[in-house]
Amino acid sequence: MRDEARAEACRTPAHVAIIMDGNGRWAARRGLPRLNGHKAGADAVRAVVESCPDLGIRYLTLFAFSTENWRRPREEVSGLMTLFRRYLRKESAELVAKGVRVRFIGERSRLGTGLVEMMEALERRSAANDRLFLNIAINYGGRDEMTRAARKLAQAVAEGRLEPEAVTEEHFAGFLDTGGLPDPDLVIRTSGETRISNFLLWQCAYAEYAFVEECWPDFTPDRLAEILSVFSGRERRFGAVSV
Ligand code: FPP
Repeated sequence: MRDEARAEACRTPAHVAIIMDGNGRWAARRGLPRLNGHKAGADAVRAVVESCPDLGIRYLTLFAFSTENWRRPREEVSGLMTLFRRYLRKESAELVAKGVRVRFIGERSRLGTGLVEMMEALERRSAANDRLFLNIAINYGGRDEMTRAARKLAQAVAEGRLEPEAVTEEHFAGFLDTGGLPDPDLVIRTSGETRISNFLLWQCAYAEYAFVEECWPDFTPDRLAEILSVFSGRERRFGAVSV
């Protein structure tokens, strides 16, 4: 990476990825059912998405449901799916009107057809937008994504469209769900946990990390702005030495 490009990447994180953790604990502390925590989490999503363009963020990727989250109690999983449908029903028109381009990452075949249709419709309707690129990860796992990418790559080789010796990192990245998107510069995880939990494993090779104590429903645009200002003071060397 050229020096000026590195310096620029240090100032403004173009791509912020967030692991929205702690909805359950937020609810439990208030004596509420876990789903109320997820509903409050959906409200926090709205405020953070709205704040991104003013904060200079071009790409925002949110971890909404992991490939491991199916292990939760059946009522919680179905409640989350209902919440995603409700969010899309309520927010799609406004997201499109506000210039947000929405893309979903993750494996879709396990999701209900109603939800997938709403996801695809929003992707189509927002395809020409470019004010903010919002990626929502549903039934997403980094290992699953890389396995699916490897399968597509193997298929291309088997069909003679790609020579094994010609395979580059760029080829592989292009087969990921995030193909064409820049890598995240900054990953934020709420609720005090310090794990990456199978999120964007390939893409976060050089990301900075911010682990913050508050649970996701308490996360605000002001808090995001604070984290960005800490980030802008960090030096990212991308494997090189200081300039
Ligand atoms: C993790 O908290 C959160 C989730 C598994 C769900 C994330 C979903 C939302 C924020 C709702 C809406 C999202 C969109 C995109 C509309 P947790 O339940 O694991 O919390 P805990 O660790 O305290 O139990």
